[in-house]
Formats: sequence, structure tokens, C-alpha cells
Amino acid sequence: MADEFVLDTPVVRSFIADVRAAIERSSSPEDACERIRPRFAELLADDGWLPAEYQAPVPESGMGGGIGQWLLFRAGDGSLSLFALVVPSCSATPVHDHLAWGLVGLYRGTQDEEIYEAAAGGLRLAESRALERGDFYALLPPQNDIHRVRTTSAGDSVSIHLLTNDTGCVWRHSYDPESGATHAFRSG
Ligand SMILES: [Fe+2]
Repeated sequence: MADEFVLDTPVVRSFIADVRAAIERSSSPEDACERIRPRFAELLADDGWLPAEYQAPVPESGMGGGIGQWLLFRAGDGSLSLFALVVPSCSATPVHDHLAWGLVGLYRGTQDEEIYEAAAGGLRLAESRALERGDFYALLPPQNDIHRVRTTSAGDSVSIHLLTNDTGCVWRHSYDPESGATHAFRSG
């Protein structure tokens, strides 16, 4: 399959080209994340590149809560994807994983992020952090991979995800934080 630029603009093309060059030069996922950081920060600070239609919630969303997941780019070989996740005010994602390393950062609104760890008989809340515009973090599974985000702003939050899989299409997991029970899902 060929690469798919759903949002086919010079900004997205040059970002993806720089990301691929950084990954090629890197010795590990940690190293790649470090090399990508400056470009990712630039993308989060740029007000002009993401059209309003990719910052809109989806009332009938498969993820519930009006959450919208908007694909912007995916590699033909499934090795990389870029998407915007829109979480309406007061909504939260289920506890979920990504199963791939990458960077996630906030573009609009504010969020609380809760990171979980596997513990005897279920999941344990390991860390909770408040995110503002421009804040971002590296996901390096199994580290930090199980989490949930909740929008704390009066308006929708929009986060930008750069992940090294075709996140919308792979089977991954949602979790019941009390029992630790997992449920396979594809976010679409
Ligand atoms: Fe996530």
C-alpha cells in the first residue's frame, strides 16, 4: 500500500519527512523520540496547519463520549501514523493502550492524563498529570502505555498523536481499571 496523506499539505509532508529522517538516524525508540522532539514542539505551537474539521468531536463516535479520532497521515507499511484526537469537554477516553512508541502532545484545551500500571488483581494508578497546550510526552511501551485522558477545559481538547503503528486499525486493548479486565478493540 502507498502512503496516505489524508491531510495533504506542505506542513504535514515536511513534518513526516523530518520524522522519517530522524527515525532512520536513531539508534533506539528513545533516541528517535529525542530527535523528533523539536519538530513535534513546532507542530504543536503552529496555529495554522490543522483545519477546523480535524478539531471537531464526533457525536456518534465508536469510542463513545463524542470522541473524534482524525487520521492525518499513515505509512503504507503500517509503520507510522499521525492523527488528531478530539475529546469533548468533561469527556474521557476509556483506559487504553497503543502498543507502539511515539509522541503525544496537546494542541488545544487542557487535559488530565492518568497512567496505569499492572498490579495484582487489576491496575494501579501510577501517575496523574495536568497537560496544557504544547505539553507532550513520549510513549515507550511497556512504559506509560496504559492510560486515560480527560478533558478539563470548557472547550474540546485536541491532542496530536505520532505513533509507530497504524493506530486506528490495529487491535489493541481497553481496560477496566478496577478488575484489570481487558477488552480488544480497534478505534477506527
Ligand atoms: Fe492514548
